[in-house]
Amino acid sequence: MRTKVWNVDKFVDNLENDPQIVDAAQLLRQNEVVALPTETVYGLGGNAKNDEAVSKIFAAKGRPVDNPLIIHIAEENQLDEFVAEIPEKAAMLMKAYWPGPLTLIFKQKLGVLSEKATAGLGTVAVRMPDHPVALALLKSCKLPIAAPSANRSGKPSPTTAEHVLEDLNGKIAGVLDGGATGVGVESTVVDCTEAVPVILRPGGVTKEQLVKVVGPVEVDRALTGGSAKPKAPGMKYKHYAPNAPMFLVDGTTDFIQQLVRDKQAQGLRVGVLATEETASHYKSDLVLACGKRSELPTVASALYDTLRTFNHEKIDVIYSEIFPTSGVGQAIMNRLLKAAGNHIIVEK
Ligand code: TXA
Ligand code: MG
Repeated sequence: MRTKVWNVDKFVDNLENDPQIVDAAQLLRQNEVVALPTETVYGLGGNAKNDEAVSKIFAAKGRPVDNPLIIHIAEENQLDEFVAEIPEKAAMLMKAYWPGPLTLIFKQKLGVLSEKATAGLGTVAVRMPDHPVALALLKSCKLPIAAPSANRSGKPSPTTAEHVLEDLNGKIAGVLDGGATGVGVESTVVDCTEAVPVILRPGGVTKEQLVKVVGPVEVDRALTGGSAKPKAPGMKYKHYAPNAPMFLVDGTTDFIQQLVRDKQAQGLRVGVLATEETASHYKSDLVLACGKRSELPTVASALYDTLRTFNHEKIDVIYSEIFPTSGVGQAIMNRLLKAAGNHIIVEK
């Protein structure tokens, strides 16, 4: 299959009627799959009501079938079609953070969406992305769109159209290139089906921001180190992994430099994931500055591109700095721990 690339200018007026958006929307209506930019990462979209379209998403990604997809909408009234009820706290969060990087879990009105999209669960994950291209496409195709991140399963999520093509060229009908995404980590997934909302996956909307709107919020225990099974099926998989083994290091720059020297002495090529403030402290085969430590959103924004860049060089092992878990730092550390298979070295 030849994968079309549409270059769209996200700043033009009336994007919904742009011929490229209309072309992509037409393919979605024909149950083909198309990658689209959102404010978090690129998604791989398909008609959420059609089994064939949803199967194409799973096939292109090589995704396990027990991992349900997020349904994307452009207008709140689209919820009526497939959501059984909207709890009060969910309504408050929607009002505050939609469109935006927040996914809410609802009880599902059964029989509307493809069961393959929701992995046969009685619930459904929904979000309204805050990106002009995504919203224009959703409005143009007039369908709820199932869209996981547009990477091969296990790889870092894509934050540019080039990342999407790196993984999926020839496997999907097209990609709308709307430039680099902004937030850089995926949406926060929150379960509002119980009295106290539960964060199933930390993401672009922070815990602090949720608490401000609805009061106490819990975090799924599986995320805070317990042995419980995660409530978001996707959180049990290894993810975001660069090709070389990666270790997080809780220690000083001097300690990390010593680890680098030890590996280099064994003849290995070593990568360091650092920040703009610290990169100049290291001498290694490849040192990448992933945003500014003093501004965590810049780290989130650069994270997946940095992980992919290590794959473009011959690197045998990667050491990464760690980050505070306040604000978007919680999502950053969640993704880094997964990328590192939970390996963390602590300076004594
Ligand atoms: O920012 C994002 O959320 C991006 C963009 C493209 O919108 N999408 C994304 O989708 O990250 P994906 O498929 O990579 O991750 C969806 C997560 C998975 O961990 C999945 O298990 C969880 O949401 N999920 C989906 N439906 C669920 C449900 N009904 N109950 C619990 N977790 C669910
Ligand atoms: Mg994903």
